[in-house]
Amino acid sequence: MNKKAVHIKFYGGENIPLELHKVRVVQKLNLVPVERRLEALYESGFNTFRLTTNDVFLDMLTDSGTNAMSDMQLSAMMHADDAYAGSQSFFRLQKAVEDVLRKKYFLPVHQGRAAENIIANAYIRKKGDLIPMNYHFTTALAHITQYGGRIVELLYDEAYNISSCHPFKGNMNIEKLEAVIKETGKENIPFIRMEASTNLIGGQPFSVQNLREVRGIADRYGLRIVLDASLLGENAYLVIQREPEFADASMADVISTITGLCDIIYFSARKLSSSRGGGICTNELTIYRELEAFIPLFEGFLTYGGISVREIEAMAVGLYETLDETMICQSPQYIAYLVNALTAKDIPMVTPPGVLGAHADAKRICEHIPQSQYQAGALATAFYLISGVRGMERGSISNQRDENGNETYADMELLRLAVPRRVFTLSQVKYVEDRMIWLYENRLLIGGLKFVYEPPVLRFFMGGLEPVSDWAEKLMAKFKEDFGNSL
Ligand code: F0G
Repeated sequence: MNKKAVHIKFYGGENIPLELHKVRVVQKLNLVPVERRLEALYESGFNTFRLTTNDVFLDMLTDSGTNAMSDMQLSAMMHADDAYAGSQSFFRLQKAVEDVLRKKYFLPVHQGRAAENIIANAYIRKKGDLIPMNYHFTTALAHITQYGGRIVELLYDEAYNISSCHPFKGNMNIEKLEAVIKETGKENIPFIRMEASTNLIGGQPFSVQNLREVRGIADRYGLRIVLDASLLGENAYLVIQREPEFADASMADVISTITGLCDIIYFSARKLSSSRGGGICTNELTIYRELEAFIPLFEGFLTYGGISVREIEAMAVGLYETLDETMICQSPQYIAYLVNALTAKDIPMVTPPGVLGAHADAKRICEHIPQSQYQAGALATAFYLISGVRGMERGSISNQRDENGNETYADMELLRLAVPRRVFTLSQVKYVEDRMIWLYENRLLIGGLKFVYEPPVLRFFMGGLEPVSDWAEKLMAKFKEDFGNSL
């Protein structure tokens, strides 16, 4: 791959991302009128997860299972080998895992959280076992606590600084890690978890140097490192961009350096490899044996793990494509474009731009709303109302209550606008920019939300809320005043 292909300069000096692909299959989108969008919000309990895609224009909920697949992936799906056991599709995937992630033992699972369930089930042996991590992800935390474990998040203070220029806000705080191990005792720590491109703080990467230091401590205390590699491709891309040692390295070199420092790797293939499913891999036979029995119990036979053989073929090709910087760069470059454009208008966004999506700081945008009325949820629903764009709340609604049932407020209240890989065009991104600028100017019209239906686990998925006042009607009226007949 020609490394120069990643950043194409424009003669006129404009700094815009250039698509290095062409679109050959298209899907029509609906932009329904604002009145319908308001109705849709009431029908979905002011929860963007519960909107139907008929009411959604740009679906920026997530990149999970929504990245565009390549022509190579689609064609590979046509030569899948259907078999309950011993499918050739599985062996092609196993080879891809070995070539790309450099781990020889592979266990397929139906998606990322299934891997989290199995790893937590296998290794959390006592109530109170502690998992140090750079930062939690919702499903990882839910599985760890489900088996009686606890977590401790060990980021550096800079990671909590939303407007920052620190290149690696996902770094693990090395001093705190060592202190926690000494204090807790290594026998109470089943493993250390590192998340590539730390999702909930705005898709922020860790550096290879930081991971080396974590490895040093893990070795000193005889602990294993578990890597959540769901966003590993993007983390590797940002290492090449931001860590001078790797400026000339290939994606393959960075990825294998990272995976070589970890004992167990798991991933959501809905993100890594732009397909479906997930997996766990390792080079240690003992680890493989410790986890193997859970696959037929929870997932399916060991050569499919609950994934269709077609998706297994797509996953294998998608893993190889993770090594192609021209494919992986597309989403982070669009995100950087959007974040830079909004920051230039003084709209508070997570910086530096990360991966997965552009993240707006709802704590500041909605500082007139108390955190108990869910600033990020309010911003997500307001933004949908005035644009038809569906983002995701990543704040206190996404947090779980503590063991006494008390609300725990999130460190950050973010509206995440995901940019799935090679899905949107630049004019669509410009539309998002335009509507966000309008909403920011009219932010005082946004009001709070309250729960009317709160599920006990992962409440953000299906929870129902309602506005605390008629703010949504007032926001719609202002939109109509300013936009006239425009949708
Ligand atoms: N780990 C990370 C870092 C993730 O981002 C996700 C999913 C998972 C694990 C779980 O994987 O969905 O295949 O079970 N993240 C999605 C998101 C849901 O929208 O950020 P899964």
